[in-house]
Amino acid sequence: MAHRGLCVGGCSQDAAYKHLVGEGEKKTVICIEGNIASGKTTCLDYFAKTTSIEVLTEPVLKWRNVHGHNLLGLMYQDPSRWGITLQTYIQLTMLDQHTRPMISPVRMMERSIHSAKHIFVENLYRSGRMPEVDYIVLTEWFEWITKNTDVSVDLIVYLQTSPETCYERLKNRCRKEEKIIAMEYLEAIHQLYEEWLIKQTLCKVPSPVLVIQADNDMQKMIEKYEENRDQILTPSKMQHCL
Ligand SMILES: Nc1ncnc2c1ncn2[C@@H]1O[C@H](COP(=O)(O)OP(=O)(O)OP(=O)(O)O)[C@@H](O)[C@H]1O
Ligand SMILES: [Mg+2]
Repeated sequence: MAHRGLCVGGCSQDAAYKHLVGEGEKKTVICIEGNIASGKTTCLDYFAKTTSIEVLTEPVLKWRNVHGHNLLGLMYQDPSRWGITLQTYIQLTMLDQHTRPMISPVRMMERSIHSAKHIFVENLYRSGRMPEVDYIVLTEWFEWITKNTDVSVDLIVYLQTSPETCYERLKNRCRKEEKIIAMEYLEAIHQLYEEWLIKQTLCKVPSPVLVIQADNDMQKMIEKYEENRDQILTPSKMQHCL
């Protein structure tokens, strides 16, 4: 559960206490954040294999098949036309994930409704590919959701990479929609993540942040996950957070 005493960059909402379950057991929500292809799914897969926590990966399959429409592909081809459509749908699928009943005391999620708004919607708007009125509508929806539902987070783990590393991993991964992703896009997303989670100048951060440098190979990343295992899985014990 988010502890107010640990919050520096942002504080949990009262709604966080909705996670209190029947017998007073507290539940913990950890979000893995980072640029495209920074290694979030790989990180979640590792923890899913080595612990009994509940893991929710990004619902990207849904975004690629909305009743037969590949909304993710459409957005990359024409962001000005499809940005609002995709982001509205992403906000819905993320809300669904945050509010789904927890089946384990610890939930680890890939990204969050918070990064969907503060990173991806923000980037569309700042780059001039989302009209102001679309941005305002999404912002009003986001504000309503954060005020009226429990989308609280206890810890953000930021996999901090260089945009160059992401570009290399993206090329090797070869997802067809991503072939048109340019280095500039990864740089813009990187800058927003840094503003949001490191400088903390973008907006209020919803939880403490643990930064893990993630440019390294898999073996080294596993070592880092093991070194940080307790801090990640028990955020209330975390000492070195932003
Ligand atoms: N430490 C690493 N070293 C080398 N390759 C890696 C490492 N971590 C992940 N990869 C590879 O990079 C690619 C992207 O990783 P992954 O799918 O985990 O990224 P992601 O952050 O989940 O991406 P997305 O933002 O699209 O969800 C994958 O092909 C994965 O196998
Ligand atoms: Mg992923």
